[in-house]
Amino acid sequence: MLIAQLSDCHIATPEEDFTKLYQPADRLREAIRHVNTSLNRPDLVFLTGDLINSGKREEYDILRDLIAGFEMPVYLLPGNHDNCALLREVFPDHDYLPPSGDLNYVVDGWPLKIICLDTNLHGKPEGFLGEAQLDWLDQQLASEPTRRAVIFMHHPPFLTGLAKMDGMGLLDREAFNDIIARHDNVERVLCGHVHRAIQKLAGGTLVQTCPSTSHQIMLHLGEKGELGTVFEPPEYLLHYWTEEAGFLTHTDYVKDYDIAWTLKDGVK
Ligand SMILES: [Fe+2]
Ligand SMILES: [Fe+2]
Repeated sequence: MLIAQLSDCHIATPEEDFTKLYQPADRLREAIRHVNTSLNRPDLVFLTGDLINSGKREEYDILRDLIAGFEMPVYLLPGNHDNCALLREVFPDHDYLPPSGDLNYVVDGWPLKIICLDTNLHGKPEGFLGEAQLDWLDQQLASEPTRRAVIFMHHPPFLTGLAKMDGMGLLDREAFNDIIARHDNVERVLCGHVHRAIQKLAGGTLVQTCPSTSHQIMLHLGEKGELGTVFEPPEYLLHYWTEEAGFLTHTDYVKDYDIAWTLKDGVK
């Protein structure tokens, strides 16, 4: 099983200054081309939130046209920049999205159970799950205790050291981590939101965040850390699972690099 995780596409309409600065649609188009033509063609793609930038319908229309280019199934998760009602409306064919309530769902049919959680807090930058969603997660993990599970959600359940981003983190991360710690079948928690690749143990499980296909958050750690964006290269994560190797993650750049040498060229 090979899963590509792309995150924080932040699609905006063409006339906006945001688009002129970041060109998020062009960058997502390039990421899709890269995924489709990669040596490592994934079985599934997950877009882990902040799909669009301002919660507008036109942005979802652009996103819809773009992701039609993926040559494999795509699953959408909301982030803080998303509008869940509009997302549901513009993607009625994404029938894994529940018809009402929070956008939590399970993707079945693969060796690992894939659980997707909605951390959107209706127009606020912070993330929140709440008791009902945490109960649902608890039940999902308890219902198949011997099956390994991965959890996708937008906001990571830990402090990143990026002070301004931590100010818009997951409000009930401790309650989330308590649940994860109670179950021994959680293989990984996979997030977006911080536009950087970060790893941390939380609730006894490795949590990872995925860089953005558009722009990255400036790396400035500590209390005085300034919030900014940088044009570091767009990246995405490839989560690979085999019975023998287990679950592991590679980072890939959205760029075609020249191959310097392969074994079939002979010994140099
Ligand atoms: Fe984002
Ligand atoms: Fe976000």
